[in-house]
Amino acid sequence: MSGQEEIVEVQSSVLGTKEHWDDCYDREIECFDESGGDDVGEIWFGKSCLKAMTKEISQLSELNKETSKIIDLGCGNGMTLIELYKLGFRNLYGSDYSQKAIDLAEKIAQHHEYSINYFVDDITQLNGEQGEYDAVLDKGTFDAIALSENRDEMKALYKKYVEKVLKDQGLFIITSCNYTQNELTTYFPSSNFQYIKNVQYPVFKFGGSKGTSQTTIIFKYIR
Ligand SMILES: C[S@@+](CC[C@H](N)C(=O)[O-])C[C@H]1O[C@@H](n2cnc3c(N)ncnc32)[C@H](O)[C@@H]1O
Repeated sequence: MSGQEEIVEVQSSVLGTKEHWDDCYDREIECFDESGGDDVGEIWFGKSCLKAMTKEISQLSELNKETSKIIDLGCGNGMTLIELYKLGFRNLYGSDYSQKAIDLAEKIAQHHEYSINYFVDDITQLNGEQGEYDAVLDKGTFDAIALSENRDEMKALYKKYVEKVLKDQGLFIITSCNYTQNELTTYFPSSNFQYIKNVQYPVFKFGGSKGTSQTTIIFKYIR
């Protein structure tokens, strides 16, 4: 892996606003109800990414399926947690600042009779207990936060939150489509975030250059 990389930011957008996500999950709840529970809404970065990422998590020797307390930040419809539940994890939490997201996630979990703990929380408010979780997951939430108007402040609060709620030696597992592996390892520096591995996804070719559409990195947090 190469070292520090300048982080290239994208333009702020509606995806960085709570109104956008409330509207989005409001529509998804309607579709879920109308479909009798078949339509769970958007799977961010696709099903194959979700399957590959959760399979990798299920094989991590640092985590115990019965006891490890795991939170998915900005869980949306909760499908990452549903997948982990199916793989045997039982101490699962999901938070999102959109009440509508939590309503949808709870409906989906109840529909399948899966026991997952959901609650409304804005990461940037820094709620949560110190050293509460064995693992913190994020798929697309850091990306969304980085699209807010005051991104630098929001990103810094996000990092503070992760550092607060993770146990010493806990895992931080982040999936992003906005940032490269080098950008993520620059933003979460090795002094506290020890790189363990990344999850490989199929490589696509575009205009002669190679890339993957998303990156998952697993870090061990050293307090
Ligand atoms: C791209 S979606 C990803 C949702 C989910 N992680 C997934 O993979 O399907 C981003 C999510 O982050 C949530 N979010 C954005 N900013 C947040 C914040 N400050 N606190 C909590 N959740 C936030 C949004 O409501 C939305 O559900």
